[in-house]
Amino acid sequence: MLLPLLLLPWVWGALAASPPLPPASVTLRLLQIDVFHNASSTDMQGMALLGDLETHSLDCSTCEIRFLQPWAQQGLTPKQWQDLELLIHRSLFSFIFKVNRIAQQQGKGYPFVTQVSLGCELPPNGSSRGFYEAAVNGEDFISFDMDGGKWVARQEDNVAALYTRDLLNRDKGASITLQFLLRTTCVNQLKSFVLYANESLERQERPVAVVFARAPPPAGTPAPVLLVCRVTGFYPRPVRVAWLQDGEEVGPGGRLNSSGILPNADLTYQLRSSLAVGPGAGHSYACRVQHSSLGGRSLLIPWEQSRPWGPGLVMGITLGVVAVAAVAVVLWQSRRRGYQDIRPGESRP
Ligand SMILES: *[C@@H]1O[C@H](CO)[C@@H](O)[C@H](O)[C@H]1NC(C)=O
Ligand SMILES: *[C@@H]1O[C@H](CO)[C@@H](O)[C@H](O)[C@H]1NC(C)=O
Ligand SMILES: *[C@@H]1O[C@H](CO)[C@@H](O)[C@H](O)[C@H]1NC(C)=O
Ligand SMILES: *[C@@H]1O[C@H](CO)[C@@H](O)[C@H](O)[C@H]1NC(C)=O
Repeated sequence: MLLPLLLLPWVWGALAASPPLPPASVTLRLLQIDVFHNASSTDMQGMALLGDLETHSLDCSTCEIRFLQPWAQQGLTPKQWQDLELLIHRSLFSFIFKVNRIAQQQGKGYPFVTQVSLGCELPPNGSSRGFYEAAVNGEDFISFDMDGGKWVARQEDNVAALYTRDLLNRDKGASITLQFLLRTTCVNQLKSFVLYANESLERQERPVAVVFARAPPPAGTPAPVLLVCRVTGFYPRPVRVAWLQDGEEVGPGGRLNSSGILPNADLTYQLRSSLAVGPGAGHSYACRVQHSSLGGRSLLIPWEQSRPWGPGLVMGITLGVVAVAAVAVVLWQSRRRGYQDIRPGESRP
């Protein structure tokens, strides 16, 4: 099974003249998603995230906080967590009451979905930033301006958003409390989590990268060949992928395209970067990947231009097919054995 991986034409690049990855900021974010079926039925869902790690979830039938990381209970005493559950319970029900009232006053039809994202961010320069943003049916609705201590409508032509903004801005006390919660409570909790979550936050997964060509255009058309660099399995998220032509980095422009960084199911990330190259131009190409897991070096994957479909890729595909067939045979045999193990009258464990 490892053979196709070993055949991939990857080599380690030297430190070379490549700009360093920018340092990342950390964010503590609470997400609350509510589905309003009608005035008397609402489904609520809440969670907390430290960066991209889910740390807590909220079961809204009981308003019980679930701890999803071994360190997620740190920072507060059990009594303080209980008080927090009570506070969340009260504010959720007051939130739902207010939203229903606004919906009725504004003649908004059910069902609709609200999404609230609030929290704080610590950029590497030591400053901090609090935020509170709300959306309705997936569209920005209102947000809180931390510096001004005021609510802002995110759509100037949305009557419901303007009405909600004015309603919330009348409660000066609540705005001051919110400023304090986001500037002080959230930032303190974030700093404490960063201390305890050190190992989870320092998790490093190395990227695996391959370079291949998209199917060439039909013969006779002058269209360029599209080289694709597929990078996957890396963590944390910041990554830098560049194309080198004859050893020189290709500058930004129409020849480059990128999928952006996308999540995998296992809390790693992937990205595809493509480069359009003129047919038969006689240049050498390579994809360069920089990531914190690579210890200051970079991954350099050359493109085998002389054989557009690359012997490595063909061998890889062939061995991949052989490996899949072998696994299928093994599975089939073990299943057969599994069935044989069951005697009539017995049930499987
Ligand atoms: C409100 O919605 C819930 C869930 O969809 C439904 O069970 C209930 O009958 C509805 N109530 C009213 C008064 O329409
Ligand atoms: C710190 O960085 C953030 C975002 O990167 C920026 O908005 C802020 O102005 C910076 N603050 C200072 C004091 O440099
Ligand atoms: C993480 O923090 C804990 C508690 O502060 C400490 O005991 C541990 O050594 C730290 N681990 C690392 C890898 O820094
Ligand atoms: C970039 O790629 C996306 C799909 O991955 C495609 O929809 C888009 O048209 C491409 N842009 C350019 C300029 O080639």
